Amino acid sequence: MSEGKTEGMTRRDFTKLSAAAAGLTILSSGRAYAANNKLRVGLLGCGSRGSGAATQHLIGNDNVELVAMADLFPDRLNASRQKIAENKDERVAGKFKVTDKMCFTGWDAYKKILETDIDVIIEGTLPYSRPKHVEAAVEAGKHVFTEKPAAVDPTGIRQFIAAAEKATEKKLCFVAGTQRRHQLNYVETIKKLHDGAIGDIRMMRVYWCGGLPFVHDRAPNWSELEYRIRNWYAYCWVCGDNIVEQHVHNLDVANWVLKAHPVSVFASGGRAWKPMEAKYGDMYDQFSCDYEYPNGVRVFSMSRHWGKADGGVFEVAYGSKGESKCMDMMDSPQEKMVDPYVQEHTDLGNAIRGVTPYINEGVQVAESTMTAIMARMSAYTGKVVTWEDAMKSDLSIVPQEFDFTKPYPVAPIPVPGM
Ligand SMILES: NC(=O)c1ccc[n+]([C@@H]2O[C@H](COP(=O)([O-])OP(=O)(O)OC[C@H]3O[C@@H](n4cnc5c(N)ncnc54)[C@H](O)[C@@H]3O)[C@@H](O)[C@H]2O)c1
Repeated sequence: MSEGKTEGMTRRDFTKLSAAAAGLTILSSGRAYAANNKLRVGLLGCGSRGSGAATQHLIGNDNVELVAMADLFPDRLNASRQKIAENKDERVAGKFKVTDKMCFTGWDAYKKILETDIDVIIEGTLPYSRPKHVEAAVEAGKHVFTEKPAAVDPTGIRQFIAAAEKATEKKLCFVAGTQRRHQLNYVETIKKLHDGAIGDIRMMRVYWCGGLPFVHDRAPNWSELEYRIRNWYAYCWVCGDNIVEQHVHNLDVANWVLKAHPVSVFASGGRAWKPMEAKYGDMYDQFSCDYEYPNGVRVFSMSRHWGKADGGVFEVAYGSKGESKCMDMMDSPQEKMVDPYVQEHTDLGNAIRGVTPYINEGVQVAESTMTAIMARMSAYTGKVVTWEDAMKSDLSIVPQEFDFTKPYPVAPIPVPGM
């Protein structure tokens, strides 16, 4: 009899049967979760979204505990820890079990939290550091919830995709913060669009035209690098520019509806509202994009942060038999709608426990992020960019080393053709 086999049955089959008898779910990763076994959760990146996501993970799941926290800066971690600890919601209170020795700060905080016995990591840091964190999390055998976008450049996208594929091999669940994918009105409508509700879809318009974003003033004790990271929505290497950071949500809907990523893009952009001041960094405040998808389908997109201007955040699909706002054909009653920021965590928890099938949204969020990055590349250079070229590109904009004593000058504003 070969190693690992009993009569007509592998050891894995036998383990599965015993586990079923005991009410356990065995994942291919070999870990077992009983319905009453508590999943141990860690939060990496204790800012506003990370703190929200950790809280929503507790709201959306029974039998979980938040046991560890990590952040680059102690003040961010402490503020988040206090805020979640003081949450009076009964679905949160009692699930917060973070002790001093399970709090980690500094550049290697991500390594330390991943060395603990947590089952799930919530990655809520910033896009510049996400590929490295997600790669390390999968390497450490953790299930992943990660915020969007996946990365800021093609090099980071390839690293992120490799980690997502590794997660599939290790059967580690992986959910991304593109919450429309977990929002019932989108889910039901897009299913109908896929079933032909508006015929063949020939064109889409996807827009994120919002107001001016936050700008933090620089505190006297902050180095240049600390200011870049705290005032992150001003620097391309930290967040990827507004099209990557924000508009990725709408571009993700286009890729979802069309079941594809673009073939090429022709984009333009610039700065109208953000004057050439240091506090506004090196980003554009507007992008207009003309995407080509397979079979000649076109997607027109706008990503913008302007003050005192008309705005709108939406996606519309135009088909041979009609049009849809991509969330306007829900059959379920409105009361069935759960906050998608909670639903995405329930969906992750259920998949980890085997209540629902294995889930991995890694490649999907990476492709939606790449859809945004290729348009930024086109707008910055004034050239048409193909998917193939973007995926092969060596463009890497994140600094190789982080040192609070070193200068991190602001890059010049990109001028197409220059
Ligand atoms: N899905 C959504 O609707 C949604 C909404 C808001 C924000 N987000 C995303 O969430 C992410 C965080 O946004 P935020 O508004 O919470 O920002 P934030 O600045 O409030 O939080 C980011 C946190 O990450 C920490 N951090 C940065 N670099 C780190 C590193 N190398 N190691 C450890 N910690 C590090 C920062 O100190 C900070 O506490 C962004 O990627 C953003 O796009 C998503």
